[in-house]
Parts: sequence; structure tokens; C-alpha cells
Amino acid sequence: MRELTVATADDMRALGVQMSRTLKPGDLVVLTGDLGAGKTTLVQGIAAGLGASGPVLSPTFVIARVYRDGRVPLVHVDAYRLGSRVEVDDLDLDADVAEAVTVVEWGEGLVEGLSDERLVVSITRSSDEADETRHVTLS
Ligand SMILES: Nc1ncnc2c1ncn2[C@@H]1O[C@H](COP(=O)(O)OP(=O)(O)OP(=O)(O)O)[C@@H](O)[C@H]1O
Ligand SMILES: [Mg+2]
Repeated sequence: MRELTVATADDMRALGVQMSRTLKPGDLVVLTGDLGAGKTTLVQGIAAGLGASGPVLSPTFVIARVYRDGRVPLVHVDAYRLGSRVEVDDLDLDADVAEAVTVVEWGEGLVEGLSDERLVVSITRSSDEADETRHVTLS
């Protein structure tokens, strides 16, 4: 397990860029953390690092978006509204978990069946509302 302190949103994007360097097709990344923790901000960095163009928006209302123009396709899922196990392959993604990097917000307890292994990124905020620092653990 790795523990990091991330001071700003730009630093969170930089962490995503750094993470993207080790990501390869078939990888599953599960993001946990409260509303506004910085999950989508991290995905913005992952997408940029993979070379995907175009803005990464929160996929909350569409559940998933696929960014195809980077080094590896990126599937970005927001499972917030899904109450049961997500079969990402059942979503109309037109891309397979095996060939993409799949990053799932709110995916804990829902997407474990998609892959034997996964990277879990937990983001927590400071109890001080004015403090933008996030604590991130990678396991
Ligand atoms: N250190 C930081 N790391 C990440 N985001 C930060 C940080 N400091 C401030 N922010 C801001 O916090 C907000 C995080 O929002 P973001 O959409 O990434 O959260 P989220 O975890 O995806 O939330 P949701 O569960 O609603 O999808 C952004 O507005 C971002 O600019
Ligand atoms: Mg989000």
C-alpha cells in the first residue's frame, strides 16, 4: 500500500498522469471517496497521460464514457447510481475490459468480478473544509 498527500487539484491530475504510465490493457482501477473527493479529477490526469483528447466530464448521468484516442482506450464508469454488480461489458460501451483501462468511480463492491486484480485508490478529504489536501492510498 502506498500513501500520498495531494495538495491541489492540479497535483491530483499529475498523480493521474503518473499512474497512467503503468496502466495497460485489462487493468481495472476502482476509485473510492466521498462526493467531491477528487475521483474525476484523478481520471482527468489518467486520460491526459494516456493521450486521450477532449475533456473528461463526470459520467454520472451516462454511467460510462469511452475515450478511444489515447495509447490505450480508457473506459470511465461512474457507478454511483448502480445498485448492483456492474457488468461493464453489459453497458453499451463497445469496448472490452480486456483491451481497455477501466476506471470506476464508486465501484467498490460492484466491479470486483471484472478482473482478478485491481488497483484501489481511496481518496479522503481533510476534516478542515478549508483545507484542499487529499489523502490518497493506493492498494
Ligand atoms: N487536492 C485536490 N485533489 C482533487 N481535487 C481537488 C483538490 N483540491 C480541490 N479539489 C477540487 O475538488 C473537486 C473534486 O471534484 P471531483 O469531481 O473530482 O470529485 P469526485 O470524487 O469525482 O466526486 P463525485 O463523487 O461527485 O463524482 C474539484 O472541483 C477539484 O478542483
Ligand atoms: Mg466524479
